[in-house]
Amino acid sequence: MTMTLSRQTVIPITELEQSAFCRSDGNLRTQTLEEEFKAGVRWQKIPTRYMKLSPEEIDAGIAEAREALGEQVILLGHHYQREDVIKYADIRGDSYLLSKQAAEVKEARAIVFCGVHFMAETADILSSDDQSVILPNMAAGCSMADMANLEEVEDCWDDMQSVLEGQGTVVPITYMNSTAAIKSLCGENGGLVCTSSNADRAFEWAWRHGDKVLFLPDQHLGRNTAKKMGISEDDMVVWNPFKPMGSLSPEQVRRSKVILWQGHCSVHTRFTTKQIEDARLDNPDVNIIVHPECVKEVVESADYVGSTEYIQNMINAAPAGTAWGVGTEINMVSRLAKENPDKEVFCLDPVVCPCATMYRIHPAYVLWVLEGLVAGLMINRIEVPAETKANARLALDRMLEISR
Ligand code: 13P
Ligand code: SF4
Repeated sequence: MTMTLSRQTVIPITELEQSAFCRSDGNLRTQTLEEEFKAGVRWQKIPTRYMKLSPEEIDAGIAEAREALGEQVILLGHHYQREDVIKYADIRGDSYLLSKQAAEVKEARAIVFCGVHFMAETADILSSDDQSVILPNMAAGCSMADMANLEEVEDCWDDMQSVLEGQGTVVPITYMNSTAAIKSLCGENGGLVCTSSNADRAFEWAWRHGDKVLFLPDQHLGRNTAKKMGISEDDMVVWNPFKPMGSLSPEQVRRSKVILWQGHCSVHTRFTTKQIEDARLDNPDVNIIVHPECVKEVVESADYVGSTEYIQNMINAAPAGTAWGVGTEINMVSRLAKENPDKEVFCLDPVVCPCATMYRIHPAYVLWVLEGLVAGLMINRIEVPAETKANARLALDRMLEISR
């Protein structure tokens, strides 16, 4: 029998930690956990014997554990994982592809999710009941997902209903980067989930079912998608969760078509139009490709905009000799540069800052949870409560349906 050791160590990201691993020399080499802890991070506690392990010892340990576990375990890895972790992934992808995979991999008893907390929750919701999902480091959250907590969103929802007094239907759309509780709220109230690769289809779906959209939690993806769908910025308002009534008048809520939650990604809001101008000054033929979590001005100035999977596919398929300035997380950009030596691929931001929460998955944590499985211990199992699961599943199924 497998025992479960599950602790909810959701540690919010601080600006300090976000910058702890920023490098101007481009060096993203993994160090021992002991070394990395010296940056002052507050990651999940792990038995001390994992702290000093060298990359070679971790490699050997992971190979041995995987050999013992065989097909019982599968490792999923998001594109933003560091090189020394993604190399162990059986399947790599963006949030959409990985959520689909979680619903499709039926053989594995355990899914080790090398990504962040909301992704592992989604995998638990979509996988079957006899499968378990494991997040190697429970502190690997997402600062954007943390910007929409359930109580605040419930208050917003109630305030909007009382202002509208039954005149007009609001469809809540939540970006995948949100907690299971927020996904559940959307499912329960006639809404759905989207990712950066199907946000426009989610908006189309919403217009067929209502007159207004409440978009959670990323204002930038919401604004960029709504603009792409032809909605004027005059018809959008931003809901500030720290102010009564979101800092909006009842009239502003009634007149709006899209209500954007005031959330953002601290990694993608680093990209600026100045960086794009500089890249074009250096090489007028450069292609600029960015993630839709970037601010509107950056998205409008780019040549191409899309999810991490889209960015990867575009660059991989591009002709040799082309140049690509990329506006997304540095581990992914460095990997694309390495895998496309016949092209020039570089990050638009000269100071490279990995997503600090994705970075919390250090290979030593992967070894720890795998060795746990070998010993019959389920360390860091992610289990979404049944009452949350049903409505969150409804919201996710609506997304999977529109994406077929
Ligand atoms: P993708 O859906 O493009 O993988 O993005 C997830 C994410 O967290 C981007 O910051
Ligand atoms: Fe969250 Fe931004 Fe990291 Fe994506 S890059 S996981 S949105 S903090």
